[in-house]
Amino acid sequence: MVRSTKLPVTVKTRLGWDDSSRNIEEVAERLQDVGIQALTVHGRTRVQMYKGEADWRLIAKVKENPRIQIPIFGNGDIDSPQKALEYKNRYGVDGIMIGRAAIGYPWIFREIKHFLATGETLAPPTLAERLDACRRHLLGSVQWKGEKLGILEMRRHYANYLKGLPHIKDFRTRLVTTDSLQELEAIFDDIATHYAGIEGEALVA
Ligand SMILES: Cc1cc2nc3c(=O)[nH]c(=O)nc-3n(C[C@H](O)[C@H](O)[C@H](O)COP(=O)(O)O)c2cc1C
Repeated sequence: MVRSTKLPVTVKTRLGWDDSSRNIEEVAERLQDVGIQALTVHGRTRVQMYKGEADWRLIAKVKENPRIQIPIFGNGDIDSPQKALEYKNRYGVDGIMIGRAAIGYPWIFREIKHFLATGETLAPPTLAERLDACRRHLLGSVQWKGEKLGILEMRRHYANYLKGLPHIKDFRTRLVTTDSLQELEAIFDDIATHYAGIEGEALVA
């Protein structure tokens, strides 16, 4: 890959295949030697899937290796600005990647950036922002996958986007039982009207 392009090539991988092959320290050196520009390590093995906690100590060992010059990013289980700062400092990585915590909550990135820059917690997204994200995601989903599949696949995301809104269950049921784009838009409007005036922490469970 490195030889076939002038673009910078980066790698993201796990600690190893299973407990008996946690060979990321060697893999990192070899990847650096063939010319990759940065490495992200998810602190679990392939066999582990998502079980247990990510092993950030091993990620730190990759970073601490005096032979390693390329940026090392850590990944695994970061779900808040506080944890991002704590892990960045404790394990000395050059950056952090976020997976699951961003699903249905893309605001995690600006919240972390703000916290790292100022030490202050950013206000959570407004209802308008959440609904806007729903609308845009739904539109993109339909454009990408077609109306039927786009609407269907979007259903798994509403719970995340609308998490914490008090008594949202009935709206959510409506969102995941209609096949009509027009109806979905109408439900978004109903939610906006219903929760108008409730902002900030009151929107968060
Ligand atoms: C729905 C989903 C899709 C993913 N797809 C990829 C992928 O295509 N490539 C990849 O390297 N990791 C992928 N991952 C793994 C994440 O990038 C990340 O390494 C893992 O979720 C651990 O980080 P987290 O604890 O922040 O979620 C995926 C994870 C999820 C939940």
